[in-house]
Formats: sequence, C-alpha cells, structure tokens
Amino acid sequence: DWTPDSFIETTIAALKEKLGDDKVVLGLSGGVDSSVAAVLLHHAIGTNLHCIFVDNGLLRKGEYEQVLDSYKHMGLNIKGIDAKQRFYDALAGLNDPEKKRKAIGRVFIEVFDDAAHEVQDVKWLGQGTIYPDVIESVSVKGPSATIKSHHNVGGLPDFMKLKVVEPLNTLFKDEVRRVGKALGIDPNILGRHPFPGPGLAIRILGDVTPEKVAILQEADAIYINNLRSYGVYDKVWQAGAIFLPVQSVGVMGDERTYENVICLRAVESLDGMTADWCHLPYDLLAKISNEIINNVKGINRVVYDISSKPPATIEWE
Ligand code: XMP
Repeated sequence: DWTPDSFIETTIAALKEKLGDDKVVLGLSGGVDSSVAAVLLHHAIGTNLHCIFVDNGLLRKGEYEQVLDSYKHMGLNIKGIDAKQRFYDALAGLNDPEKKRKAIGRVFIEVFDDAAHEVQDVKWLGQGTIYPDVIESVSVKGPSATIKSHHNVGGLPDFMKLKVVEPLNTLFKDEVRRVGKALGIDPNILGRHPFPGPGLAIRILGDVTPEKVAILQEADAIYINNLRSYGVYDKVWQAGAIFLPVQSVGVMGDERTYENVICLRAVESLDGMTADWCHLPYDLLAKISNEIINNVKGINRVVYDISSKPPATIEWE
C-alpha cells in the first residue's frame, strides 16, 4: 500500500543510488511541488543539492523574504537572487499577455542559467514535476511552456542540457501534500494557493510598472490576510487581487478622486481546469473593500469577480 512514509523511504534510497556524489541544481518557486522535491533531494544528497530562488519582483508582498527564510530554516543549501530590475526592464512597455509571459520566461532562464553556471560540475537539473504535468502537458502555460517556446530562439541554455531528476513525477497533488507533511515541511508552504509563474505580472492588466506592482502587493496582502483571519483561506482553492488600469471617479473628504480599480478573485476548483467563483460572505467582502480603499493609495474602488470557468479563466490574462 502507498503511504507517504514508504514513498519517502524508497524515493530517498533510489535518489542516493541514482545520484551518488553528483551535484543537482533546482529552482525553488515557493510552491508546494518544488519545495517537496527539494526536501526529498536534500535528504538524499545533502549540500550537493544547490537550490536557487529568484526574486522576479512579481511575488506577493513579503513573500521572497518569508519563503527564503523558511527554506533556510529547513536546512536547504539555497541561494536567493534579487533580479527584480531585470524583470521590470524586460516588461517595460509590454501589454500583450503572451509577450509578458515570454519576457518573464526568457529572463528567468537567463538568471537561472547564470546561477547554475556557478555550481561547479553540476550534472543534474532537479524539478518538481508531478504526474498531472507529465500527462497533461497541454494544460501547461507555465515555465515548461515558456522553455519550449524559448527553444526556437537560439539553442538551449546550458542548464537544459543537464540530466533531469523528478522525484514527484508519479504523484498527484494531494499525495505531494501528504509527503510534504510527513517530511515536516512548513504547513504555510504546503497549504498555499496555487500562484502562477509570471506572478503579479498577469494580475496587472496591460503594462507592468514597479509602482503598479507595489499597489497590487498592498491590496493583495490585505485581501489574503483577511481570508486567513476570517478562517476561509483553506476553503478557497485560489484567490488573488487584480489591478485594473481603469480609472473611475470617487470622493475622499471634499476631494474628487480619479483612481484605479482593484478586482478580487476567489475560486473553488479541483485542478484549475474548471472553477466556480466563491460565495464569500458579504461582511468579509465589505471589510476587505474598506481596508483596501482606506489604505492603498491609488485605489478608490473594489469589485468582486463573479465569473466561473469556463468561460472565464481564473486569471485575467
Ligand atoms: P487559468 O487562468 O488558465 O488558470 O484559468 C488556471 C491555473 O493556471 C494558473 N496559471 C499559470 N500558472 N504560469 C503558471 O505557472 C502561467 O502562465 C499561468 N497562467 C495561469 C492559474 O493561476 C490557475 O491556477
């Protein structure tokens, strides 16, 4: 019978056998899959596992610091790379969602390749691929799709010539969470909502600027913190705030304002392929709206997305 403990035991033994004294480089995203893959590899090969965590400037508020901290706490051999400005430069003036995704994918590959070159004699690329990624590569809009489109541009980056080790490629998401729990990984990492690779860039409609990112980070943090304190975070499959570059009129004291809109999105889903909008309580929505409008400069209106997938998608871009 499959149990997390038996999986952990046989996987670590198999990884030891396969990897010997070889070095592995692995990109952490802060998500469940890459974290569990990293901890399993760490148990098998210790500091021969070199983890890389890139700050693309498109993460949630405070996320880079918090996640890096908890990874260090787990004893992982990890290097954090602040590449915010490179991503902002690449995004400047881009409006089209697919162009934004491609630019982010390209810069990620460049940054990761530079970092991987610093690991002498690395032989393997570790990845948190899970079983559904293997069978449904059609549904992937994420890093691997970006990497595929990058192939056409000009040869493979060096890290992609490495042999690939994917310790989770037979597991489903819920099994990955159970394995992570048995490995003692921080419940805050295991229980996280899915978060897209291109991050807040696809939650800012149109062109991305560091100013818009800062506004969205504030609004999103208020939203997510309220979902947690109200006790509904774990009941929601995925939630996030979206910055709409639409200005509308408001009043603040005696002043007329003309500011942007924040849209709140929360969905229930099993796998992201279909999704229903969550019926969040009105008093919670009211509190979040007030807090955002009163505290986030540049926002004077909050709306709630009541569209299900299909035909709407979960993300707005
Ligand atoms: P959609 O918007 O297609 O999203 O309904 C379904 C799920 O996929 C995530 N998503 C992405 N994940 N890179 C990713 O890694 C992407 O470019 C991307 N686009 C959407 C989305 O957050 C949701 O969980």
